[in-house]
Amino acid sequence: MSQANFLAPTAFVIFGATGDLTSRKLVPALYELKLADRLPTPLYLIGFARRDWDDQVMREQMRQAILQHARSQPVDRNKLENFLASIRYLQSSFEDREGYQRLGKMLDDLDAVNRLYYLACPPGVYSTIIQGLGEAGLAQRAEGWARIVIEKPYGEDLSSAQALDAAVHRVFAEQQVYRIDHYLGKETVQNILVFRFANGIFEPLWNNRNVDHVQITVAETVGVGSRAGYYDKAGVIRDVFQNHLMQLLTLTAMEAPVAFNADAVRDEKVKIIRSLRPLRGKEALKNTYRAQYVAGTIDGQRVPGYKDEPGVQPDSTTETYLAARLFVDNWRWAGVPFYLRSGKRLPKRITSIDIHFKQVPLPLFGWRNLAGHAPNVLMINIQPDEGITLTFGAKAPGPINQIEPVKMHFDYVETFGAEPPDAYERLLLDCLIGDATLFTRTDEVQAAWAFVTDILEAWRNNPPRYLPVYEAGTWGPPGSEDFVRSADGHTWDNL
Ligand code: BG6
Repeated sequence: MSQANFLAPTAFVIFGATGDLTSRKLVPALYELKLADRLPTPLYLIGFARRDWDDQVMREQMRQAILQHARSQPVDRNKLENFLASIRYLQSSFEDREGYQRLGKMLDDLDAVNRLYYLACPPGVYSTIIQGLGEAGLAQRAEGWARIVIEKPYGEDLSSAQALDAAVHRVFAEQQVYRIDHYLGKETVQNILVFRFANGIFEPLWNNRNVDHVQITVAETVGVGSRAGYYDKAGVIRDVFQNHLMQLLTLTAMEAPVAFNADAVRDEKVKIIRSLRPLRGKEALKNTYRAQYVAGTIDGQRVPGYKDEPGVQPDSTTETYLAARLFVDNWRWAGVPFYLRSGKRLPKRITSIDIHFKQVPLPLFGWRNLAGHAPNVLMINIQPDEGITLTFGAKAPGPINQIEPVKMHFDYVETFGAEPPDAYERLLLDCLIGDATLFTRTDEVQAAWAFVTDILEAWRNNPPRYLPVYEAGTWGPPGSEDFVRSADGHTWDNL
């Protein structure tokens, strides 16, 4: 954004401003940007929602949200008051056309040259809001810009994602659209590209000549919480696989972009999704593994099973664990399995990408080898212990000929002396600046849904006779180990 633009009055309009996302993520992230003097001046925060609030109530609620959730504690009282003073509230239903007229008037009165609309509301009302903005003439600007930020879930299969895209594109041009996948805002996820493309030594190894297989894990200890209404229809495949896991896969597998800009990066990402070997019919059943958690113990606490969570159907067959075996059928990756897995109520919260390199062509050492025949694993730890570790075999000291696994380790916090900022801080700043690199483009979303919809169809046509279960606090049923072992003799990494 040019300096002149950055100084233009800007409105950040949140649809669904009374919800959880606003108070837990959006407003604390905006406050952090304010602290760092990164926000346009002036920036007006406008809450648009049904609830009977006014400016004062919204300010008070946001004060509590910042006090509770801000990353930088203690909170800077001056900056906080200054930030709160910029808040306005507009009460309206999303269907009421007059609400959008009032919004237009408010924006004009504030002289808001630039306008960012953020959909932090249930996906069922996305199209209604977009249409409302279009009809009120709020989607285009003769001077300044208008942008729309759309949260996940972006559709629930290919046809609903296409229908949503059609509704969006009736009102906004693609360049105005910012589809959020908060994983892309994580510092360590962005570091995948820096690691690969700012360093010369890794890229020559990053292919099927040297890589045996790749494991990508998004493991969570939390259960479904209060979100059963959404989750029971979504399952892991829509909640995490179609977006976060597939995004991690594209960044790991993509070619170097011709430049580091939004279109060049996204051109390469979408090629990976299009190169995925489709999983249809029997192939989908063979290459995916689903399971559901039952009661168990996590961190010494008894937790209920999925079917006992409030709001879950008693006969639910929704998967809370999913493993999948994918192939990227291009020259770089032909023949290399990518194992993706994610689950709720697993023993540990961890997201990691593990690149397993091949073993040496000829074993030379007839020694005791505790490192195994393929000791080289590069672990990119996305969270919570952000860092990168390379394991290799080394000679253990002493007269006995023994090889042991050892590690080279980069620790994010130790090196940079600070926890990485929250993903939303980066993403909100990027959409204010107008950099869409970390947002998913229409063709990317469609390609991901096309791939996932094939799997969903295969599942629908072949409902499981019984869904394997795992005790909360374990790494999945024994079948999840057999799933990787039987295909290629691999085992899941011990995280
Ligand atoms: C969200 C999912 O997109 O990602 C949640 O809807 C999940 O179910 C969350 O818990 C995981 O995000 P993070 O940043 O905690 O790894």
